[in-house]
Parts: sequence; C-alpha cells; structure tokens
Amino acid sequence: MNFGVMTAAYIGASALFIMALGGLSHQESARRGNIYGILGMALAMGVTIAGAVTDNYGLLLAGLVPGGIIGYILAKRVEMTSMPELVAILHSLVGLAAVFVGFANALGHGESASVVAQRIHDVETSLGIFIGAVTFTGSLVAYLKLSGKVSGNPLQLPGRHMINLAIVLVSLYLIVEFAAVGATDGMIYLYIITLLALVFGAHLVVAIGGADMPVVVSMLNSYSGWAAAAMGFMLGNDLLIVVGALVGSSGAILSYIMCRAMNRKFLNVILGGIGSKKKKASPAAGAAVEEQGEIVEIQSEEAAHMLESAKEVMIIPGYGMAVAQAQHTVFEITKKLREKGVNVRFGIHPVAGRMPGHMNVLLAEAKVPYDIVYEMDEINEDFPKVDVSVVIGANDIVNPAANEVEDSPIAGMPVLEPWKGKHTIVLKRGMSRGYAGVENPLFFKDNTRMLFGDAKQTVDALLKHLSAD
Ligand code: TAP
Repeated sequence: MNFGVMTAAYIGASALFIMALGGLSHQESARRGNIYGILGMALAMGVTIAGAVTDNYGLLLAGLVPGGIIGYILAKRVEMTSMPELVAILHSLVGLAAVFVGFANALGHGESASVVAQRIHDVETSLGIFIGAVTFTGSLVAYLKLSGKVSGNPLQLPGRHMINLAIVLVSLYLIVEFAAVGATDGMIYLYIITLLALVFGAHLVVAIGGADMPVVVSMLNSYSGWAAAAMGFMLGNDLLIVVGALVGSSGAILSYIMCRAMNRKFLNVILGGIGSKKKKASPAAGAAVEEQGEIVEIQSEEAAHMLESAKEVMIIPGYGMAVAQAQHTVFEITKKLREKGVNVRFGIHPVAGRMPGHMNVLLAEAKVPYDIVYEMDEINEDFPKVDVSVVIGANDIVNPAANEVEDSPIAGMPVLEPWKGKHTIVLKRGMSRGYAGVENPLFFKDNTRMLFGDAKQTVDALLKHLSAD
C-alpha cells in the first residue's frame, strides 16, 4: 500500500480515537463515542493488515481469528459486575504483548545505521519491556483482587518503598548497560530487567487495597497505554504511539479525578500509601459502631407508603443494584412516583459500584433521564430537604464513618449523606460490609429503616405496592 495512503488512514484513525474519547466523556454522546472507536479500530487494523504486513499472513490469521473469537465470547458472556476484572485481565495482555514485542524486537532487529540510532532503539526496547512487564503482573494482581480470588486487603511489606526504589534504580542501571552493549551481548540484562519489572508490578499493586482499588484500575489502564506507546516506538508505528499516548494520558487524568473525588493523594495511592498514616480496618472501631444502636426493619408495603407520601425522594444506587440488575424496576418506581407528584432524583457517587461510571451506565441502560441524575458534589447539600433517601445495594459510598472514624480505611473519602435527610431506607440482603470491609453506622441511625432482601425482589415488591394504590 502506498505510504501516503497509509499515513492518511492512520491520521484518520487517530482523529476517530480522539472523537471517541470526546464522545465517551458525556452520557448523551457515549454511544456515538463507542461507534467512533469501533470505526477507528477497524480502519487501523484494516490498513495495518493490508499495508504494513507484507509476509506471514498465516501467522497473523492464527492470532487474529482465535483472539477475535475469544474476545467476542468474553464480551458476550461478561456480567456488568465483572467488567472491572475483565478490564484488568485485558490490560495484563497489553503488558504481555509489549514484553513479547520487546524481545522479538531485540532478537530480530538488524543493526541501525548509526550508533546513536542503535542506542535509542535499545533504550526504547528495554523501557518498553519494563513498562509492559509492570503492567502485566500489576494487572494480574488487580484481577485476582477484584475477582475476590485473593484478599482485597493491602499487603504492605516492611521497607516496601525502599524495595521499590531499589528495583527502579537497578532497572535504570541495567537499561543503560543494555544500551551500551546492545542485544547481541546484552540479553542477560533484558532478562533481569523483565524479572525485576514483573516483581515491581505485583509488589506495587498488592500494597494497594480496599477503597483505593478504583484508582488502581484506572492507573493500570494508563500503564497499558504507555506500554502500547512503547510498542509503537519499538515497531516504528506512529498510530500505536498516538493511541498509546491517548490511553496513557486519559487513564492518568481519570486516576487523578478519582483521587480528587475520594480525597486521596495520587502518589499516596499508587505507591501504596507512601507518606500517609497506615489505615487498616480497626476491629475496635467496627465493634464500637456495632454497639451504637439498633437496626430497625421495615417491610416493602410500609416503605412504598413512605415513598408515595414524600415530596422529595433521593435514590442512591450502589454495587448491589448492579448485582441484582434492579435498575429497570428502579426506573419503573421512579415513573410511578413522578406520576404521583413526587420529585425523584438520583445521587451518584464517583466510585459507586466497581468501575468508573458504573451507575451512570446502568441508569442509562434503564433509560433514566439524564436530567434527574446528579453527581455527589451537585446533590450532597440538598439532603436536609430530602424526605426519603432510598439506598439500593450501596454501602461504602453512604458510610458516615468516612467522616467520623479517624482510623477507618475510608477516612476522608467524601460520601453521600442521606442521614441528613428526614428518612433513609436501605435495601440490602443482610448486614454484610461493603467493599472496604468497614461497619456502617448509617444502618443504626434513628431515621434509617432496613428493607432486607435481594434488591431486585425488594424493588419488585415496592413497585407492586405502588402500582396497587
Ligand atoms: P459496596 O460498598 O461494595 O456495598 C455494596 C452492598 O451491596 C453490600 O454491602 C451488599 O450487602 C449489597 N448487595 C450486594 N448484592 C446485593 C443484592 N443482590 N441485593 C441487595 N444488596 C446487595 O458498594 P458501593 O457502596 O457501591 O461502594 C463501592 C465500593 O467499591 C467502594 O468502596 C469503592 O472504593 C469500591 N470500588 C469501586 C470501584 C469503582 S471504579 N467504582 C472499583 C473497585 C472498588 P449485602 O451483602 O448485605 O446485601
């Protein structure tokens, strides 16, 4: 394929990816953004296969066809609640691909025209392998934590910051050494760099846990972008560099936004609590909360009656609504209440659920109008005017311990504050703790009523009572 045509197509694909990111930043345009992304990827792959690949088509198909089929089946099967795990494991594959491309590049690359070009190429290769290997094991550990296959608690080894610093310094030294001798004599350096980076990635992520995990997911998203950009440098592919940089920087910006939303310092989180007080779930704090008061149960009929007698209702969805897939019935309830003249709004916490924008996606899927869905910052001051808040399968994001219990793992995280309203009804199955493993004093407040049961069943029952009147 003509070089000019390829370059033009790559520029077109880059523009489509930028438009995709722009579209994905608003719910109204998210679907359009996805379509731009699909078109950009189809264009990029088509042009690369037709233009850049000149040989070994059999090998290419042997990767593309099974990979495409596996991806299709996974995407069809995955539950919305397992999306973060899927994203984490897919990031690990990007990291692994960068490591493979790095080794193939080191072994198969001919000598460059000049010594300087050769040195630059060797630095690109070793750096790409380093970033790829960190992404690979970091994402793997994040996958294990998010899927509950290993404990989500942070494992913080003594002297962990010194260990990390030592790994980074030794790796930098080895990268310089590798560039000095090149791949012919320096493969041993590459092997050691890879090994160190694999340990570094896993060690970074095991030290982070609990409520800080959302930031890890978006950070690994960013790392996978940088790994892709590194591959772009290794392969001399401009499109891969642009796309990698887009993913890398947007992931970093998202991590920063989430840290700000959770009142965390970015570096503290990604380095596993550097410079911060160690915050572990203190059993003493939990016990103190448990003795704070009594749980008062409510049945669905009475809860429905409270809702229809209210003027202002605030619905706060959380992870449990996603698990129960209750969003469609929640919207039916919303419509019924609005017909009865009740002003119903939704309050969304930035880390509700298990992935950025989780609740917004579910509510959009159920066709809840965007203009009644509010972000936490927009709505938190309104709670004193709210008659009934309905917390559906949420826990950490409405936990007053974040403000009240100093050594709580979620201390300092801004939360939605339904207890400041007149009444709160909490829909959950039992008294389990949320993701961060902390007891929730909201459940014991005088103005809180617990409606126990699977969220789908309880909202169905609420709807039935509201429809009966
Ligand atoms: P959680 O704190 O995890 O609480 C969810 C609650 O839902 C649980 O206490 C559970 O109690 C209840 N539940 C589960 N299944 C249910 C069902 N079928 N029906 C009714 N209730 C059900 O969720 P949250 O309040 O949304 O907070 C999110 C947490 O996840 C935060 O700690 C956040 O840091 C973390 N996190 C977020 C992300 C992102 S990016 N959003 C990523 C990773 C981690 P029962 O078992 O008693 O029913």
